[in-house]
Amino acid sequence: MSDFLQDYLLWGDQVRRSLQAPIEAGGGVEVLEGLAVVGMGGSGIVGDVVRSLAAHHSRLGVPVEVVKDSSLPPWVGSGWAVLAVSYSGNTAETLKAVEEAVARGAFVAGVSSGGRLRDLLRSEGLPWAGVEGGHAPRSALPSLIITSLRLLQSAGIGLGGDLTRIPSLLRPRDEVEGLAGRILDAVSEGVPAFIATGRWYGLAVRAKNEFNENGKALAVAMVAPEWGHNDVVGFEGSEFPAIFFKDPLDPVSEAVEAVLKEFSRKHLIIGLRGVEAPEEYVAEFISVSQAVGIASVRYGLGRGVDPRETASIRLYKKVLKSALGEGL
Ligand code: F6R
Repeated sequence: MSDFLQDYLLWGDQVRRSLQAPIEAGGGVEVLEGLAVVGMGGSGIVGDVVRSLAAHHSRLGVPVEVVKDSSLPPWVGSGWAVLAVSYSGNTAETLKAVEEAVARGAFVAGVSSGGRLRDLLRSEGLPWAGVEGGHAPRSALPSLIITSLRLLQSAGIGLGGDLTRIPSLLRPRDEVEGLAGRILDAVSEGVPAFIATGRWYGLAVRAKNEFNENGKALAVAMVAPEWGHNDVVGFEGSEFPAIFFKDPLDPVSEAVEAVLKEFSRKHLIIGLRGVEAPEEYVAEFISVSQAVGIASVRYGLGRGVDPRETASIRLYKKVLKSALGEGL
């Protein structure tokens, strides 16, 4: 079996280790006007998770900005907290945004496996928490999410919930493998469209990213209810496989399912758990992402490509680094 596939299969252990790893206490916030979560690609998914938790499952009570860019919105500054997430700690956009956040007087904290992000935050005396090395950023998703939530908690920006319950809330291994098999069957041909309602949009983005990176394939992410006002028409009579992450607690789901059944020739409805508590959301996000990860690695292997290797991202990063400026 490929080591990379194994990395995904062992996510349960990764979850447990990241709940136990020490988090250095490094100061916290006194006022909080808003929270920006900065990060790209596999690390950037943490921002989508935090935004959903804040909007639907916790009482944070301040706006959350998800920043997948090298600059922050103009309203992020003093009084705001900025969480920077970069598995390598060396992603140019993330580092640039962190420099900007520090210069604007925001409270900045970061999560990485090392790299310049750690050095930068340590030199500023700002909190940083490490995740274990040896993974690809995307196969470190459980550590990135859990470490980020624990770091926020230690800085006084708790999103609530009891994270220690996550291991017992994960879907069992055979259920995850079964789900992975269904996803793989559904995406066998054509550009897959991953659809979710707002609270689970991060999952659709994650699934798209996984088929891009592990499968070396085009894929798209779509969000309802807006989906029902435009994207949906593209499915009339088309062969695009539609994979819908159905939230049983969102009434929009019924409408999406009905339209897919009527108009889409190839679709898969994945029933999500109806989650309430923050830790239930996180556990379900991790379990379904694990199934998608396994499916996308198998999809890549089936196409004869190396799921782990992402040569084009490497070239992109190299050129961007010199374009954004030395020192990054
Ligand atoms: C995922 C992946 C990319 C990176 C992204 C940012 O495995 O390779 O999506 O996550 O290029 O890099 P990091 O996460 O190191 O900041």
